[in-house]
Amino acid sequence: MSALPSDPALLARVETAIASAGGALPFADYMQLVLNEPGLGYYHRRETPIGPRGDFTTAPELGALFATALARAVGALQDEFELPAQVLELGAGSGALAADLLAACRRFGRPQAAYAILEPSAALAADQRECLSEEAAVGWLNQLPEVFRGVVLANEVLDALPVDCFVVREAGLRQRAVTGTASEGFRWVEIPAPPTLARRVAGIEEALGRKLPPGYASEWSPWLGPFVRSVAARLEHGAILFADYGYERRDYYHPERSQGTLVCHSRHRAHDDPFHAPGAEDISAWVDFDAVAEAALAAGLTVHTFATQTQFLMQHGLLEALAAAQQDSTSTAAHLALVREAERLLLPGEMGTRFKVLILARGRSAAA
Ligand SMILES: C[S@@+](CC[C@H](N)C(=O)[O-])C[C@H]1O[C@@H](n2cnc3c(N)ncnc32)[C@H](O)[C@@H]1O
Repeated sequence: MSALPSDPALLARVETAIASAGGALPFADYMQLVLNEPGLGYYHRRETPIGPRGDFTTAPELGALFATALARAVGALQDEFELPAQVLELGAGSGALAADLLAACRRFGRPQAAYAILEPSAALAADQRECLSEEAAVGWLNQLPEVFRGVVLANEVLDALPVDCFVVREAGLRQRAVTGTASEGFRWVEIPAPPTLARRVAGIEEALGRKLPPGYASEWSPWLGPFVRSVAARLEHGAILFADYGYERRDYYHPERSQGTLVCHSRHRAHDDPFHAPGAEDISAWVDFDAVAEAALAAGLTVHTFATQTQFLMQHGLLEALAAAQQDSTSTAAHLALVREAERLLLPGEMGTRFKVLILARGRSAAA
């Protein structure tokens, strides 16, 4: 499946971490290592993970339509909350969203004064610098700013946050952890669920109003709440827009979704074996948007919008953006490519309903 081998140094790091954890490493720690270990993890490789030459394609990589609609949304939020023309993007990938959004903002007569990017991967930050070399407004941050006023964007960042895996057994809740060695390979092992995980799953069952049945496997992210709270805490006035694949809690832990949502991507093929090529393939999990909203509400934000990607993009002029782009295209092939791009963004079988947009806000809107 993978076109790339795992880095032996990363495999050795995982083996050491398993040994330090007593032979069973919580999956979230494994996921953090293989995705984000500086210099070694998946997002830190020199080979680009995103786009046609990578392992998966995100909405901004399909073309400029997504960013054009997002530019409309950013403008609307800046008007509604009387915000300065500044954006903070978390996890900017190749830089395509920033480039197309800034160009669209200029076309709409509302150039952005500042566009900050927080990108933990040095390799991706280098790609972004190349992609955005002409954009004077763009700057890179090493950490979240102390205080921010404006619009924060994060497309497909939450799904990359590490998750813990669990399975319900007749005898009680078990954590699905990682064991094995670099030479023999890594594999799942079940261990008693630690108290934090047991409390979280009990909380999920309470919210659902039913017990998860024996055999039910899923995941929960110990990183999600702290991540959302840390971003929310820095937002003095403005909005945070998360776009990602995910569900409300009742659908996330739906009886039919009994094997969880963990998914790996390699060269545009999805599979479910996170040990196939550690650090050389993407691992992600769908997002529990109720967990995102709860963390934001606890940090004093309000829910401004929760919509499917289709609803959100239609509301922010996706079809007008499509028509305008087609007017500038001269070949039938270019017209059809734009239609295909819009279909991938909007159709239910594609990104349209699997992806959601959650906007969280702090501060009074001008209309209030
Ligand atoms: C799936 S890629 C999405 C990239 C881009 N937003 C797009 O839509 O093409 C995930 C991105 O999130 C970044 N990322 C991962 N963990 C992060 C964190 N804790 N804070 C900010 N960015 C993070 C990765 O380095 C990468 O740029």
